[in-house]
Amino acid sequence: MNSNNSTRIDEIASGIFRISTPVPPETIPGGFSFNQYLVVDEAPLLYHTGTNNMFTKVRDAIATVIPVESLRYIGFSHYEADECGSLNKFLEMAPNAEPLCSQIAKMVSVDDFASRPAHALSDGEELSLGDHKVKWIDTPHLPHGWECGHLFESTTKTLFCGDLFTQGGHEHEALTSNDILEPSEQMRSALDYYSHTGNVHQLMEKLAINSPEVLACMHGAAWKGDGGALLRQLAIRLAA
Ligand SMILES: [Fe+2]
Ligand SMILES: [Fe+2]
Repeated sequence: MNSNNSTRIDEIASGIFRISTPVPPETIPGGFSFNQYLVVDEAPLLYHTGTNNMFTKVRDAIATVIPVESLRYIGFSHYEADECGSLNKFLEMAPNAEPLCSQIAKMVSVDDFASRPAHALSDGEELSLGDHKVKWIDTPHLPHGWECGHLFESTTKTLFCGDLFTQGGHEHEALTSNDILEPSEQMRSALDYYSHTGNVHQLMEKLAINSPEVLACMHGAAWKGDGGALLRQLAIRLAA
């Protein structure tokens, strides 16, 4: 489904929508894409905002599904422009919305930057959105950022895996079962965005043990399959 210009929004799991904006090769070599995820529920969650200058595209895509003003949480994996650049613009539009992030993100950056205090989740803490339930998983420095973590939605078994499995290019299906590991490893070989923490197996296991069935990637296609197995394969590649 197209929303405005090139930004599209597609339901990839029950009540979970992927918003994706392609950036052509003329702008970023090889092309790239920026995704946000919208969980439609009693307490609607936007996971990642996109950069400040893509605000109107993301806002308009959300508005094709729910009123933007109804957003309750605006979550993000770590503090970086594509994850939370337009946070304050969304907070301004949605009076009941709170930033949702890790304890470290709140302490180090978000409560300084955001126009309202963050709702920080500790490692393993759960939050009900209505029918959907999300759990925060701390993964410091995986792939990057001291404050980094990922969010798991248990009813659809969707892992919002942020920058893990980043795929280059600007033309992707919304949801694929084709391999995303090799395309993301190609991307990493050209531009390594991982911190190479020594804890990679231990941290990846914290994600894999939830047996996700959808990996909601921030760059490229979302993926459907045995997410636990794919995360463990990625760990082996990273540790090699
Ligand atoms: Fe990032
Ligand atoms: Fe990102």
